[in-house]
Amino acid sequence: MIDFKTIEYNSEKNEVTVLDQTKLPEEEAYLTLTKAEDIYQAIKNMNVRGAPLIGVTAAYGVVLASRTGSQNEIQKACDLIRSARPTAVNLSWAIGRMEKKLAQSRNPFSELLAEAKKIEAEDKNACIAMGKLGATLIADNANIMVHCNAGALATSGIGTALGIIYTAKEQGKRFSVFSSETRPLLQGARLTSWELTKNGVDTYTICDNMVATFMPRMKLVLVGADRIASNGDVANKIGTKGLAIISDYYKVPFYVAAPLSTFDFTVASGTQIPIEERTEDEIRKFNERCIVAPPAKICNPAFDITPAELVSGIITERCIIDRPHGKNIAKML
Ligand code: MRU
Repeated sequence: MIDFKTIEYNSEKNEVTVLDQTKLPEEEAYLTLTKAEDIYQAIKNMNVRGAPLIGVTAAYGVVLASRTGSQNEIQKACDLIRSARPTAVNLSWAIGRMEKKLAQSRNPFSELLAEAKKIEAEDKNACIAMGKLGATLIADNANIMVHCNAGALATSGIGTALGIIYTAKEQGKRFSVFSSETRPLLQGARLTSWELTKNGVDTYTICDNMVATFMPRMKLVLVGADRIASNGDVANKIGTKGLAIISDYYKVPFYVAAPLSTFDFTVASGTQIPIEERTEDEIRKFNERCIVAPPAKICNPAFDITPAELVSGIITERCIIDRPHGKNIAKML
């Protein structure tokens, strides 16, 4: 179904090609990355984004450094890439796996390449498994609301939340997807509309401030996650918490789709998850035009924390965790 690749590693040239997501939907352009610094910049500038894809890209960044680099240089590449964005735990999780391999390896390049390929394959398989489990929640003729982009563009596979949509479509179910535009960087408007319509899904894009108006018509809300704490609190794109509060008010089930690599059992609750604060200009300017009176100050947190009690369930590659409070997560995983 998915006819684009978000990431591809070329071992002959030792380079990584990524789909440049800042150019979508106008242009399907690709970027070639040849060193760890390029990978760091691509993650930081969000040419590649979405928690699972950030993890896969980071792993290949370490591979780039390992072709000719010393142990010390490879470690420096790990440190640099890990610092690109703070919230998605998949980044430090993938770098942690690469560091563990590096510490044990005699032939870093080939062993790190094998590990990066393994991380990519696991991501693809997790998407397929989440798709199958999550599709059971989709009723025929349902309206489903999604936020940001938790699709193929956010992974190396078919996506997390949108992977479920694609699987349900392949099963012959009919439904419509309502995607909130996701200010300020418009991942919902630019990316989700692009990949859903490319795959024949009936798609409506709505402004973020229309969510409460449309919620009563929804059967399901499906979102992704950047980090899930031990107690089930979910860090995801800013606006997710608002969606959860509104869906709770209207009694619409609110599900999170996330692979096990997105769980962080080192943090007890969402209050301990670092929230990325991005530049003022993402809000101050729109299409290069200044839209905010210059003396006004700007706040730009890129993520928020949805309390576990607002989450109906978390769809992982292993199982669906219903009512994911701390004890239920431990019991299921
Ligand atoms: O800032 P982004 O675009 O990287 O944020 C992405 C999200 O918040 C996604 O919902 C999340 O990473 C899950 S992607 C499968």
